[in-house]
Amino acid sequence: MTANTLPGHPHFEHRGSELFAEQVRLSDLAREHGTPLFVYSKASMLAALAAYQRGFAGRKARICYAMKANSSLGVLQVFAQAGCGFDIVSGGELERVLAAGGAGKDIIFSGVGKTRAEMRRALAVGVGCFNVESEAELEVLSEVAAAAGKVAPVSVRVNPDVDPKTHPYISTGLKGNKFGVAHDRTVATYQRAASLPGLKVVGIDCHIGSQITDEAPYLEAMDRIVDLVQAIEAVGIPIHHIDFGGGLGISYNGDQPPAADDLWRKLFARLDARGFGDRQFMIEPGRSLVGNAGACVTEVLYLKPGEGKNFCIVDAAMNDLPRPAMYQAFHAIVPANPRAEAPQTYDVVGPVCESGDWIGRDRVLAVKQGDLLAVMSAGAYSMSMASNYNTRGRAAEVLVDGGKAFLIRERETAADQMRAERLVS
Ligand code: LLP
Repeated sequence: MTANTLPGHPHFEHRGSELFAEQVRLSDLAREHGTPLFVYSKASMLAALAAYQRGFAGRKARICYAMKANSSLGVLQVFAQAGCGFDIVSGGELERVLAAGGAGKDIIFSGVGKTRAEMRRALAVGVGCFNVESEAELEVLSEVAAAAGKVAPVSVRVNPDVDPKTHPYISTGLKGNKFGVAHDRTVATYQRAASLPGLKVVGIDCHIGSQITDEAPYLEAMDRIVDLVQAIEAVGIPIHHIDFGGGLGISYNGDQPPAADDLWRKLFARLDARGFGDRQFMIEPGRSLVGNAGACVTEVLYLKPGEGKNFCIVDAAMNDLPRPAMYQAFHAIVPANPRAEAPQTYDVVGPVCESGDWIGRDRVLAVKQGDLLAVMSAGAYSMSMASNYNTRGRAAEVLVDGGKAFLIRERETAADQMRAERLVS
């Protein structure tokens, strides 16, 4: 029997004609739970986390999982048990952290549009830090905190104006982006923050973008942040921690992002040279902790030969896997039970009534009706971005740990979807 690990997905491998996640056959999971089905490997998540932990060894650093990447409770539980904090962007995410066993102090609250109600709740549970994104937000947060008799710990998200060379929708640290405070307003913003009664300045943060596969923008952003910390401290405002934002990109299609441990060794070498290596650091990785830990298993419903194209119509769609439709993103698609027959070229598409509902274009596959395909790299920004478009219930999710498989989310029913709705009386 030959075993073939899928490149970039060390915990998914073909053994003979079966695709396994750790020690579990995907075809068994599909039979038991139906499709489309998200399958996550716990070992893969922990291995990705370990790479950051190695890079941080001997340093004062905290990893706060950016749960927007995948906010399912069973996934959060893995990271809570591994000692991670959480980067949240809404009151809903806050409640999920608490439900998964995380504590308020382990939370950093990011996002450009926090509401007063979200701020009140976050203060009540004692979040570790508010990552504030504008001067107007500072004023409101101070007011809300003072009214609650509390002092909000704050960090200001600064926009380092570095080009991360990623998709425009997911690059966030350039001048024209809606995120953060402009580089040249930073010191003035910190002075304002330090003067407000409801706030205590504790840190600085930035985030230059997502799915970054080159190390240069990180090194450049770190230099700029250190310059800013020096400027802020020069006016008498101490910065306790530096939060360097999201994590690295992952391999979707043979991309070769730097390894987290290598990159952080390089970043720390620079920081040491500038006398900043012993500061408290935080990072907020999402995609790189879960992306390649997940696959979406989907059944081939129909093969439809066409004049210009052959279509492979599967039961997963853009509501389950929105990244191709939204960002023209590539996800590898592999048969769960490879066949020896000659392959053909297909566009792999879902049942949703939109031409944008495609999952992969021009894929060379040997498949038959009823076969199972695995859409890889589906652990990040898939289920957390899934919708009910076409009144499609959200898929079920399974977390695999060695030879065990845990159903962490039941398939959503039509009744679940209609639960909050009312007919006009
Ligand atoms: N911290 C902040 C402030 C962020 O805005 C983000 C992602 C992260 C951390 C996590 O970044 P990561 O480590 O995952 O790269 N839906 C898009 C990605 C949007 C990312 C938005 N911000 C996609 O599917 O590619």
